[in-house]
Parts: sequence; C-alpha cells; structure tokens
Amino acid sequence: MFKDLLITVTNFFRDPEAFDILKESIIPDLIAKVSGDTPIRCWVTGCATGEEAYSLAMIFVEVLNQNNRYNNVQIFATDIDNDAIEIARLGIYPDSIVADVSPERL
Ligand SMILES: C[S@@+](CC[C@H](N)C(=O)[O-])C[C@H]1O[C@@H](n2cnc3c(N)ncnc32)[C@H](O)[C@@H]1O
Repeated sequence: MFKDLLITVTNFFRDPEAFDILKESIIPDLIAKVSGDTPIRCWVTGCATGEEAYSLAMIFVEVLNQNNRYNNVQIFATDIDNDAIEIARLGIYPDSIVADVSPERL
C-alpha cells in the first residue's frame, strides 16, 4: 500500500513544457543574477528513480555552455522511497529512454 500511494512514475523531461521554460527563461535569468563563481544549488524533492534530476543537470549544462558560464551546480535529489533512490544512484537506464532523450543529450 505504501508503494501504491507513492506512485513513482517518472521519465526524462517528463513535462517538456516545464523544462522548456526552465531552459529558455528561468535558468538564464538565474545565472544572469549571480557571479560566475557563485555555486547554484537545486533540490528535486521527490525524484523517484532520478530522471528529473538528471534532466535538470542536462538543462543546466546546456544553458551554462550557451552563456560561456562555468558555475558549480549542485543538484540534490531526495525521495521517501529508498528502492527508487537506489536506482537513481546507479544512474543506469534502459534503451527505451531514447523516446524522451534526444540523440545529442544521449
Ligand atoms: C510521481 S513521482 C514524480 C517523480 C518526478 N518528480 C517527476 O516529476 O518525474 C512522485 C515521487 O514523490 C515521492 N514522494 C511522495 N511523497 C513524498 C514525501 N513526503 N517525501 C519525499 N518523497 C515523496 C514518491 O516516492 C515518488 O517517487
């Protein structure tokens, strides 16, 4: 019942519109407000098996590269489901992620 209530469904770039907004406005605005040596910390509060955290990391790399910035970015990811966290820690995903992750990102 605990597992049923948690609903650990996730995938890379699960809500594409939200990731587009992050990439096009939120992260560029954020890095414009801080100096190049300011660390940036993010927290994915219910990360399930990690896809959202790794998606966010990819977006940050892309935006930083586009802006010639080299800020240290730390992404914290937590979840109440320890089994999901174990999968997230491994960071190994099936070939089926090609449905959500572009060839460049892969
Ligand atoms: C539907 S998944 C969403 C995963 C990811 N954020 C995404 O959008 O792709 C919801 C996750 O939140 C976690 N969760 C639910 N309640 C939580 C709580 N109180 N504290 C931490 N994690 C929680 C669940 O275990 C589950 O992995």
